[in-house]
Formats: sequence, structure tokens, C-alpha cells
Amino acid sequence: MTHPALQPGHTAVITGAADGIGLAAARRFLALGLNVVLADVNAEKLLAATASLDAGDRAMAVPTDVSDPKAVISLRDAAIAQYGAVHVLMNNAGIGGGGSAIERPDRWRALIEVNLFGVINGVQAFAQTMIDQKTPGLIINTGSKQGITTPPGDTAYNVTKAGVKVLTEGLQHTLRNTEGCQVTAHLLVPGYTFTGMTARGTEKPAAAWTGAQVVDHMIASVSAGDFYILCPDNDVDRATDAARIRWAAEDVAAGRPPLSRWHPDYKDDFEAYMAAQRQENAGWLARYNDRIRAMDEPKGESGFTAGFLLGALF
Ligand SMILES: NC(=O)c1ccc[n+]([C@@H]2O[C@H](COP(=O)([O-])OP(=O)(O)OC[C@H]3O[C@@H](n4cnc5c(N)ncnc54)[C@H](O)[C@@H]3O)[C@@H](O)[C@H]2O)c1
Repeated sequence: MTHPALQPGHTAVITGAADGIGLAAARRFLALGLNVVLADVNAEKLLAATASLDAGDRAMAVPTDVSDPKAVISLRDAAIAQYGAVHVLMNNAGIGGGGSAIERPDRWRALIEVNLFGVINGVQAFAQTMIDQKTPGLIINTGSKQGITTPPGDTAYNVTKAGVKVLTEGLQHTLRNTEGCQVTAHLLVPGYTFTGMTARGTEKPAAAWTGAQVVDHMIASVSAGDFYILCPDNDVDRATDAARIRWAAEDVAAGRPPLSRWHPDYKDDFEAYMAAQRQENAGWLARYNDRIRAMDEPKGESGFTAGFLLGALF
């Protein structure tokens, strides 16, 4: 069963909707019969993307900089003025190109403003209104595996996405302890996805998923009741992600150095651990891969199968 917030006639607001995962979500929500409000800082691209949906008065573009809390409140008001209520909020706008801990303070500030404050602004502007509607609601915040396993390289990006994870976990705790609340929060964790953010050319690399695949996985996963919407890609399967996440958490629990996965002294231990995990998880991974393959069969716009229930696997 699809999540009750995803009903025909309901309304979804998506930030970062002019491209990539956000635009794919707009397409998918429209196909499910929802109205969509597309928000993006790039007004020109946003208007072109909205026109490309060919959805008439079921789609509305609202140019918005998510780092500006007043603009996000105006986005909420515009959505409610047009469609009367908001049932789905996807805080998805994001930028890359930060830097290591000791460089590029200007980029650190920009990333925190967009990737972290953009999500905080969305939650603060919309959550109480959605609770007060007393209808089923979804708040989906886009995080990243980089906010969980925090690889070396773009530490600024990792910090923002780790913040989105902690924010969304705290939000879900608050929502489930709010009497009469029918709104749930979820953390979307895409794998490598071919979008404006990652594209180095026009051809999708074999390792990457498309935005549409991420969105189909997201809908199946929220409909199965998952909080963590952890997406694989064509290179990294679900079992590999699970093992990497456990290893990262174990750095703290076992007192290893941080980022030991990339530490030469721990290379052999990490490889042995991953080999053992692969063996241990082979059974459920085979079942999981069957489900992923079923999603690739051409059943809908991008292969979504309504009966796909991740929850049954874990
Ligand atoms: N592509 C990947 O591999 C990947 C992996 C993990 C997480 N993510 C996350 O997915 C989300 C969507 O990214 P994408 O890959 O679709 O990239 P994208 O660049 O295709 O889309 C991001 C959109 O956000 C918009 N945006 C940027 N700053 C904004 C602002 N201040 N206000 C409003 N909109 C703004 C951009 O104009 C763009 O249209 C991001 O949060 C990103 O961090 C992407």
C-alpha cells in the first residue's frame, strides 16, 4: 500500500526541484495524482522544468532560496493559497563543493546555509502547519551516505549531511510524541545518482542510479514504513552499505582512530571485515537484489512496482 499522504488531490512541496532528484520526485508525485509545488533558487531553470511537466494548474513554480527563512515561509503560504494544504514536504535542495576542515571558509558557510539551514528552515516553516491540518503527512529530508560514513574529502558537505540526519531523527522523535500527529519524518539517503550535482558529462556512468530510481525506491521505502531510506546504486549494494555504516560506528565504540576505513594501519582489518560481512549477508542480499531487479522491470514510468516492500526484508 502506498503511504496515505501520497493520495490523488494531495499536495507536495519539493525544494531543489528544478533538476535531479527533486524534479524526478515532482514527476512521480504528479503521476500519483498529487499537485506539486516546485521550489528552486534558479528561477529560469525552475520555470523551464515546471513547464516541461505539462501539468497545467496541478504544478506551480515558486522561486525560493531555502537559506532564507522568510522565503521558505512565503513558499508555504503560496502553496496553501493555491492548493489549501500541504501533505508532503521534501527538503531536498543541496549544493556540493565544500572543502576539508582547514580550507574554504566561504564554502563552509554556503554549504551550511543551503544544505543544513535550508532543511531547518523547511521544517520550521511547514511542520506545525502540517501537524495542525490533522491529515497524514510526510516530511522527507535529503541526507547522504557522506553524512553517515563521513569519508575524507569534502568535510564541509559531510558536516551538513550529518546535521540533516540528526535533525530528521530528532524531528521524527518529536512527531511521534505529539498527540494526534499524523505526520512522519524520513531521511532520504541516495547512493550515487546521475544529476546536475554529479554529472561530469551527458552519459550516465554505469555505477549511478537515475533520479527516477531514487524516487521509486523512496516511495516504496516510506510506504513500507522505513525512516531511513537507504538507496543502493549500481556499484554499492545494501549489504555493503550496512557493513560500512557498522564499521564507521564501531570507530567510536571500539576506540579506533576516526575514518579508520581509510587509515593504512586498518586496511587489512577493514577488508577482512567486509569479506566476512559479505558472506554473512549473502542470503538476504540475494532476496533484496531480486526486489531491486523487479523495480527495473518496465511497470510504470520508471519501473516502480507498488508491491515492493523493503520492510519485509529487514
Ligand atoms: N546526486 C547524488 O549522487 C546525491 C547523493 C547523495 C545525496 N544527494 C543530495 O540530493 C539532493 C538533490 O541533489 P541532486 O543530486 O538532485 O542535485 P541537482 O544539482 O541536480 O539538484 C539540486 C537543486 O537544488 C537547487 N538549489 C541549490 N541551492 C539552492 C537554494 N539555496 N535554494 C533552493 N534551491 C537550491 C539547485 O538549483 C538544483 O536545481 C541534494 O541535497 C544532494 O546533496 C545527491
